[in-house]
Amino acid sequence: MRAPVCVLIGTMGAGKTTVGRLVAEAIGVGFVDSDQLIEDKVGKSVQDVFVEDGEQAFRALERETVAWALDNHDGVISLGGGAVLDPSTQALLAAHQVVFLRVGLSDAVKRVGLGSGRPLLLGNVRARVKQLLDERTPVYQGLARITVETDDRPPADVAAEIVAAI
Ligand code: S3P
Repeated sequence: MRAPVCVLIGTMGAGKTTVGRLVAEAIGVGFVDSDQLIEDKVGKSVQDVFVEDGEQAFRALERETVAWALDNHDGVISLGGGAVLDPSTQALLAAHQVVFLRVGLSDAVKRVGLGSGRPLLLGNVRARVKQLLDERTPVYQGLARITVETDDRPPADVAAEIVAAI
């Protein structure tokens, strides 16, 4: 069994993938993103899994994929924003160096743009992002050992803070 150096959590637009790559590069380890692992496994985009198979099917794949990655990847892992809502994933995360990338509504909305490729944002992007932030921020905070602010900061600064903290 291998254990990741750290696991990045946070909502869409927190910068998990960009910052995760930078942290991994800085400490010389590999990087994986749960959405990417799912896409590689099923050979289609997350968006297509939502549309063709439904969110429940996506969540089941996500649960399995995250559990596998936590056991088999020894670098940096970033998790899709909703992965932490699953109770079995939450239980597994208790043993890991979990880093919450905090982002406020304005920066999150700016970073996700029109929300393309993100099925949960269909409709009014700002309202959906606000709802997800309100619902999930307490969950992210409860799981994190380290919280890093990302508003108004370049990804390289956020990554440097994480490297210093882990
Ligand atoms: C989701 C976040 C997405 C992706 C899927 C669902 C969510 O990942 O897993 O669209 O529930 O917040 P990112 O947080 O990497 O955008």
